Amino acid sequence: MFKLIDLPFDAAALEPHMSRDTLNTHHGKHHAGYIKKLNGFLAERTNAPSSLEEVVRLAKAENDKKLFNNAAQAWNHGFFWMSLTPQSQGEPQGELRAAIEKAFGDLANFSQEAKAKGEGHFASGWLWLVADKSGAVQLVDMHDADTPIVDDKLTPLSVCDLWEHAYYLDYKNERGKFLDAYLSTLINWRFAEAQYAAARKGEQGWSYPT
Ligand SMILES: [Fe+2]
Repeated sequence: MFKLIDLPFDAAALEPHMSRDTLNTHHGKHHAGYIKKLNGFLAERTNAPSSLEEVVRLAKAENDKKLFNNAAQAWNHGFFWMSLTPQSQGEPQGELRAAIEKAFGDLANFSQEAKAKGEGHFASGWLWLVADKSGAVQLVDMHDADTPIVDDKLTPLSVCDLWEHAYYLDYKNERGKFLDAYLSTLINWRFAEAQYAAARKGEQGWSYPT
């Protein structure tokens, strides 16, 4: 059984970029709903793994779509909260910055490509910044509940939720404005740097608390 983790900041701390109303609904209703359904499906099983990462991978391997969708959404939202910060952190530093510059030329181009990919994504999903085993970083947009943790070649560094429930109360249909706020202000670069350091050491990085 998994719990709804607390937000790592006050629900009003991201205002005006993300409102208390959005976070109360997104965390308190949407994320909570995925956890509740996940626990319901797990209660029917005798082989439920103890970590959420393993539940996601098991559901994928068994092609159990209901379990996968709820387990992956539970994990993705936990990772999304960690990807946000109330204290704008400017720019990535160190090895992650070097990897972004190698892949995208410079930070401005990275933001431009991230916004274009996020805006261009059709319907619901997630915009991930990931690292592969070589340390190269890339942007990947995934549909619905899809998550890079089912691919052992990839480590997620940061994510932006592209589902309308993430931005509709604050930005209506203007997903691009929400992406601007994420890329310029909300993104937790210190967390992404820690994930990148873990990836370079072959470690798992952040895991959903049990
Ligand atoms: Fe969401």
